[in-house]
Amino acid sequence: MIATVTILTSCVKLLLIPAYYSTDFEVHRNWLAVTHSLPIKKWYFDETSPWTLDYPPLFAWFEYLLSHVAPFFDKNMLDLHRLNYTSDNTVLFQRLSVIITDLIYSLGVYLCCSALKKSWKKDVVLPILLLANCGLIMVDHIHFQYNGMLYGILLISIAYMLQVSGSYS
Ligand SMILES: *[C@@H]1O[C@H](CO)[C@@H](O)[C@H](O)[C@H]1NC(C)=O
Repeated sequence: MIATVTILTSCVKLLLIPAYYSTDFEVHRNWLAVTHSLPIKKWYFDETSPWTLDYPPLFAWFEYLLSHVAPFFDKNMLDLHRLNYTSDNTVLFQRLSVIITDLIYSLGVYLCCSALKKSWKKDVVLPILLLANCGLIMVDHIHFQYNGMLYGILLISIAYMLQVSGSYS
């Protein structure tokens, strides 16, 4: 069930690649450029763009990792001075980064559902409600953010807490 819904919602997300995106798209492009171009001690002090890096370090490291894949799509997006830079490949790369890291969310849903007692509600209804969450899909795959990945980390933590404290119905 989780695999099927993940594949179906990923198809919807792929269809949303050319959709409208907000300034958060440029915010994340700039953070790719910042973490790629500057030594770590300058990450939090660079003010080339008004969208300074203001997420916690784990997220900065995440952007740093992504910035190693970005050149395969379009290396210009990593240029710190090209503010508001975009291209078809930049959009494709940034959109795909959200779609792929959403697999962490699917993993979190899987682990949480597995930690609960088996029933139709937990095996079918809960995964559909979580994975096909329209609000989450809109904010991540239209507006442009990485909430799915972050919720995934939260769900994985909850799943381990459920495992430690025994299964709940
Ligand atoms: C980038 O875009 C923002 C908002 O869309 C705008 O306010 C800003 O002036 C632009 N900056 C440059 C350098 O084009």
